[in-house]
Amino acid sequence: MIKRYFLGVMICLAVSPAIAEQQYVAPQYQLKEKQIFIEKLMQQMTMEEKIGQLNLVSIGSDYPKPAIMAAIRDGKVGAMFNTVTKVDIRRMQDQVQYSRLKIPLFYAYDVVHGQRTVFPISLGLAASWDMDAVALSARISAKETAADGLNMTFSPMVDITRDPRWGRVSEGFGEDTYLTSRLAKVMVESYQGDDPSAPDRVMANVKHYALYGAGEGGRDYNSVDMSLPKMFQDYMPPYQAAIDAGAGGVMVALNAVNGIPATSNTWLLTDVLRQQWKFNGVTVSDHGAIGGLVKHGVAENDRQAAMMALKAGVNMDMYDNMYGKYLPGLLKDGLIKQQDIDTAVRNVLGVKWDMGLFADPYRHLGPASTDPVDTNAESRLHRAEAREVARTSLVLLKNDHNTLPLAKSGTIALIGPLADSQRDVMGSWSAAGAAKQSVTVYQGIKNALGTQATVLYSVGANITDDAAIVKYLNSYDKSVEVDPRSPQAMIDEAVNTAKKADVVVAVVGESQGMAHEASSRSDISIPQSQRDLLKALKATGKPLVLVLMNGRPLTLSWENDISDAMLETWFSGTEGGNAIADVLFGDYNPSGKLPMTFPRSVGQIPIYNSVLNTGRPFNPQKPDKYTSRYFDITNGPLFPFGYGLSYTDFSVSDITLSSTTLDSKGTLTASVTVTNTGKRSGATVVQLYVQDVVASISRPVKELKNFSKVMLQPGEQRVISFPITEQDLRFYNENLKWVSEAGKFNVFIGLDSQNVKRQSFLLL
Ligand code: NOJ
Repeated sequence: MIKRYFLGVMICLAVSPAIAEQQYVAPQYQLKEKQIFIEKLMQQMTMEEKIGQLNLVSIGSDYPKPAIMAAIRDGKVGAMFNTVTKVDIRRMQDQVQYSRLKIPLFYAYDVVHGQRTVFPISLGLAASWDMDAVALSARISAKETAADGLNMTFSPMVDITRDPRWGRVSEGFGEDTYLTSRLAKVMVESYQGDDPSAPDRVMANVKHYALYGAGEGGRDYNSVDMSLPKMFQDYMPPYQAAIDAGAGGVMVALNAVNGIPATSNTWLLTDVLRQQWKFNGVTVSDHGAIGGLVKHGVAENDRQAAMMALKAGVNMDMYDNMYGKYLPGLLKDGLIKQQDIDTAVRNVLGVKWDMGLFADPYRHLGPASTDPVDTNAESRLHRAEAREVARTSLVLLKNDHNTLPLAKSGTIALIGPLADSQRDVMGSWSAAGAAKQSVTVYQGIKNALGTQATVLYSVGANITDDAAIVKYLNSYDKSVEVDPRSPQAMIDEAVNTAKKADVVVAVVGESQGMAHEASSRSDISIPQSQRDLLKALKATGKPLVLVLMNGRPLTLSWENDISDAMLETWFSGTEGGNAIADVLFGDYNPSGKLPMTFPRSVGQIPIYNSVLNTGRPFNPQKPDKYTSRYFDITNGPLFPFGYGLSYTDFSVSDITLSSTTLDSKGTLTASVTVTNTGKRSGATVVQLYVQDVVASISRPVKELKNFSKVMLQPGEQRVISFPITEQDLRFYNENLKWVSEAGKFNVFIGLDSQNVKRQSFLLL
C-alpha cells in the first residue's frame, strides 16, 4: 500500500502535468485506508521528519525563500502560508521531491472574505442575513483560492464580538451566537463541499479558538475571564458548529481564557475540542503564539512554552519554529513523550490526506501550463457574484422623507475621503485582491449615471488629521494617503462643490486599516476631520446622505441628527462601489440588518441584544432613578441588533401559536403574516426571539432562535412560521448541563430585535 502511494507521489513529481490532467477522482474518505497509510508512513519517519511536519512556515524577511526551499528539502517544513501564486507554490512543492520521504506540504492563506475577488468584510456578510449570498461568497472564495494552488483558508473567523472597540469585529459575524453559528456552518460547507480536495474547494480552518472576541475592554490580544455557562451558551457554539460542519482545521486563539492561554490550554484543546466535540483535524497555533506563552507568564522560556503547547494539543507551530528548536531536546530529556509528537503528526498527515495531497501533491496546482499569465487577470474575477453579494450586505439606517433612492438626474456632489479609495472599499484582510480592480463609490455612481446626471467629486477631508494615528496606520504598509492641503482648504473646496449640487452624498468613516488586527480604538466615532467636513456640508442646507464605510459599529448619534439618510456599507469589496450605487439609485432595495448593536456612546459598551434583565431593569416608559441605566445619556442603543430599513414598508401581524403548551417531544409553531405595505418589492428579515421567563439561572431578555429572509412584492402577504422544539429552549445551567426547564416562555417576532410582537407558551 505504502509503496503504491509513494510511487504515485513520485510519478506525479516526474510527470505532474499528465497526472494533473487526468480526470479528477473524488473523495478518498476511506477511513481505514487513510489510517493504514498514515501509520505506515509514520513508521518510516525519523523524529526530525516528524517534527518537521509540525512546522507551519511563513515567508518573510526572517525566513526568506532560499532558506525555506532548503528546509523543505531537509524535511523540516510541514506547511506554508503567505505564499499565494501557483508559480511560487509549485516551486516549493517541487522541493519536496528532494526530501527523503517526499511528504507534500499544504499551503494556507487568510482568505477571510474573498481571494482575488473581494467580497464584503465578514461583518457585512453577516449583515445580509442571507445564507445563499454568504454561501456564494465562500464558494467563489474557495474556487479562486484553489485556483491559486492553495489548500486551506484560515477562515471562517467565528469569534463572538460584542465590543466594537476591537478592530477585529470586522472579521467576524457579530454579536449573536445563533446567527454566527449558522454562518459558521454555511461558510465551512461552502469552502469544503463534500471534499476539500476537490478542484474548486479548500479546507476551512476555523478561528480563533477560543473567545478571542471577548478580550477585556476590546483591546486586541487581551485576556478573557468568563463564567463557564456564558462561555458555553454564547461563545462556544459557533466553533462547534464549524467543527460539526467538518472544518479540517482549528486555529488557536492568542488570548488567555480564565488565566490560561489558549495555546497551553489542555482543557480547551483536548478535553473540549477533541474529547467532547470529537474534532479530528489539525490544530495550528496563531502567529508566534507559542513563544507568547513566556510573555503570558506561564512558561519560563521558549523551551518550556513548546513543551506546554504540544502537550496541551497544539499540533502545528505557526511561524516561530519553537517545535523545531526544542522538541528534540525535550524528547531526549523525557519532558515530552514520543506519543505527544506522534499524535500531532498524525493529525497533520490526516489533513494532508483529506486534501488529496498524497494522491497528488499538485492537487490544486495542476500542470504549470495552466498557470495564469497574470494572477490578477480580470478574467479570474467573479464580479457579478461580488456585486450581488455586496448589495445584500448594505444596511439602510435612516431615510427621512424618502431622501433615498436618489433620482438619476440633476447634480450630485460626492464628497469624502472614502468616496474614491480603491484600497479602503476592499476592507482589511483582503487576501490577494488587487486594489486597482475595486470599484469605488465614485466610479459606481458614474457607472450608474452615465450621462443622465452630473456627479461632482471633492475629497473634503483626510481620514484623520491626527498625524500620530496616520503614522500608526501606515506603520506596516502605507495604506492611508494624506492630502497635504490644510483642512480648511479641503472643506472650502467641498462646500463649493456641494453648493453646485442638488444633493450631497458624503462617504465617511474609517480607513480599512482602522478595523483590522491590532486596531482597537478607545473612541469609535468618525474622526474629527470628517466630522468637521460634515458640519460644513450640513451648513449648505443641501439634503445630506451619509454613506458609511467602517468595520465596526460606530457612535453615530450626531451624524444621525444632522443627516437626511444614512447607508451602512461596511467595506463592501471589489464591486462595492457598483453595489452601493445600486442602492443609492434604487436599482436594488436594501435588505441588510445589523449583526451588531450600534451604541450611542462608547461608554455604553458592552451593549448587545441578549443581555440579562437585572433585578432593577430600566424601563424607558417609566424611567426611575434606581434602575440599571446611565443617567447622562438616552438608554439603549442608537440602532439595535437586527435593525435595517427598506425603501418599502412591511407590517407584521400578531403572533399565532399552534399551541399554548409544548412538551419535550413536540413542536410548536409560531407564525406571523408579513405584508409589504409599500410600493416597491423588497426583502426583509423576519426574526424570532425567545425568552425563558423564570429559570434556575437568569436568562437573556431575548435570544435569537431563528430567522427567515423573505422577498415580497408590493401588497404581497406571506405567512412565516417558525418551529420551536424543546431543544431550542435549552441552556447551560450552573452545573454546565444543557437543559430546558419547564415553565413560561415568551416568543417575540419582528423585523429587528426591539420592535417585536409577543406571545407566550408553557414548556411542560
Ligand atoms: C494572526 C491572526 O491572528 C490570524 O487570524 C491569522 O490567520 C494569522 N495571523 C496568519 O496570518
